[in-house]
Amino acid sequence: MALLELKGVVAGYGPAVALHKINLSLEQGQRVSLLGANGAGKSSIVNVISGLLPIRSGEVWFEGERIDGRPAYRVVERGIAQIPEGRLIFPKMSVWENLELGSTALRDKEVKDVLLKQVFDLFPRLAERRKQLAGTMSGGEQQMLAVGRAMMSRPKLILSDEISMGLAPLVVRDIYDTLLRINQEWGVTLLMVEQEARLALEVADTCYLLESGTIVASGPAEEMARSEVVRKVYLAED
Ligand SMILES: Nc1ncnc2c1ncn2[C@@H]1O[C@H](COP(=O)(O)OP(=O)(O)OP(=O)(O)O)[C@@H](O)[C@H]1O
Ligand SMILES: [Mg+2]
Repeated sequence: MALLELKGVVAGYGPAVALHKINLSLEQGQRVSLLGANGAGKSSIVNVISGLLPIRSGEVWFEGERIDGRPAYRVVERGIAQIPEGRLIFPKMSVWENLELGSTALRDKEVKDVLLKQVFDLFPRLAERRKQLAGTMSGGEQQMLAVGRAMMSRPKLILSDEISMGLAPLVVRDIYDTLLRINQEWGVTLLMVEQEARLALEVADTCYLLESGTIVASGPAEEMARSEVVRKVYLAED
């Protein structure tokens, strides 16, 4: 059984249709990237999964249960955490308070403390800065905080949206390395929206290519990297 499955999902904004019958399937432990140009519908897909964008038809299944139509906080409780586009941390709150907010769905204080320790192990920088106001940190540190906050809900699936946006390549590499650790050591499944094609193909084992709200190709990342359309259009090779 797939961990996550989208079946014929149609969604949009007002009269506009942004997603046309999307079929997508993730196995537990997989690392999947979603590649596509601006406006292709990448964020719409993650927002559908996290319950932020309602669907018009189709179905979304997670661990054998239908989750479409559920409010976003219920989806978090089920084990899906989102690292949203633009990070959306709370700038006037401390690092620690931002992390706490990630675990509001959990009731057990001991579990929260363990998670906090794990996040601080992954990101020692956040531990050093736990009392600092999040808005005064660098872009890279804020992105680390966004990843840490997602981890605080003890997710089975993490949805990330454009982690590399506005960050230096080395910082991006660092954050993706941490996500790979989270995937390999803790078995958390990853669905990563990434516009940098090279990165998208490197960090994932499977890649979906989205154009104008339709999935036009998918497959193992290595194969996708060799395909004509990806090489010409997304990797700008001859
Ligand atoms: N809140 C909104 N209201 C109206 N239209 C929207 C809204 N959000 C997205 N759209 C439209 O839906 C389509 C898909 O947008 P989406 O944000 O999912 O694309 P994306 O692939 O994430 O793009 P980007 O790379 O720029 O983040 C676009 O045509 C966009 O203009
Ligand atoms: Mg987007």
